[in-house]
Amino acid sequence: MSAKILITRKLPPEVEKRAEAYFQVKRNTDDTLMDQARLIDLAQGQDGILATVTDRIDAQTIDRLPSTIRIIANFAVGTDHVDLEAAARRNIVVTNTPDVLTDATADIAMLLLLGAARGAAQGMTTIRENTWANWAPTGMLGVSLTGKRLGILGMGRIGQAVAKRARSCGMKIHYHNRNRLTDDDAIFHPALETLLENADFLSINCASTAETRDLINARTLALLPAGSIVVNTARGDIINDDALINAVKSGHLAAIGLDVFSGEPNIDPRYRELPNAFLLPHLGSATLETRNAMGFRALDNLEAFFAGRPPHDRVA
Ligand code: DGY
Repeated sequence: MSAKILITRKLPPEVEKRAEAYFQVKRNTDDTLMDQARLIDLAQGQDGILATVTDRIDAQTIDRLPSTIRIIANFAVGTDHVDLEAAARRNIVVTNTPDVLTDATADIAMLLLLGAARGAAQGMTTIRENTWANWAPTGMLGVSLTGKRLGILGMGRIGQAVAKRARSCGMKIHYHNRNRLTDDDAIFHPALETLLENADFLSINCASTAETRDLINARTLALLPAGSIVVNTARGDIINDDALINAVKSGHLAAIGLDVFSGEPNIDPRYRELPNAFLLPHLGSATLETRNAMGFRALDNLEAFFAGRPPHDRVA
């Protein structure tokens, strides 16, 4: 008998097809968001859950999952929405999907860097609202990436992929990370503070953890040189919204680019009022190729687990 899997969201057709070939699948055909009560209810009688970033699998939810659930295969690299300690306490294995979304997410970080630096949001508004008077030598001037210092907060897979792309735009790479990279010519800053003091652009690429939540706040933003630009493709809660919005409004930051937000999709409405904010709705991994690869990776982990092999991407 194949294992019974609850898939909490609609997945790309190829992924659902493969899931149904291996498992008895309970699908969320109308793709509605599952609150915790519904998740617990639908998990009854299942052996595993294929979950996404929209599922809040906190300790209380984990404690109420049926004892049949042995694995949560996460369709994302970030696992901040799952209480890993609570899962470990109940002997529930948790896996994620690293590697396969690195390039797509780094591409979006570049889009944010360029979009924020070149005033793409204002440019698009000008076109859509038909308010483009004429080309002007001094109109809509952005800032160049070439020759600028890009500070990368979190130099894991995605941070390194951003660095590679940014170098091709002529940027000089600085980074703050738990460890110094041995094979990288980027400038390592053991302290976040010196990274910020040396960053014309800041790209946030670290995981959301107890240590990084609210790390970009009024104190740390003040360390950035005046006129710098902040972009975030990691998680919204690494940034303090009040502090970021104040830094844009005061002119301390020239622009921002955000793909992720605290409480998304219910973002702080003040962001919409900032003309120099280039905003996207969490598109980091949103290509069909990448979402297929994420689904296949989650299925690889489930298949290995139920075949009695260690899943490749176990995080708890
Ligand atoms: C992840 O995998 O953590 C991403 O945020 C989903 O795009």
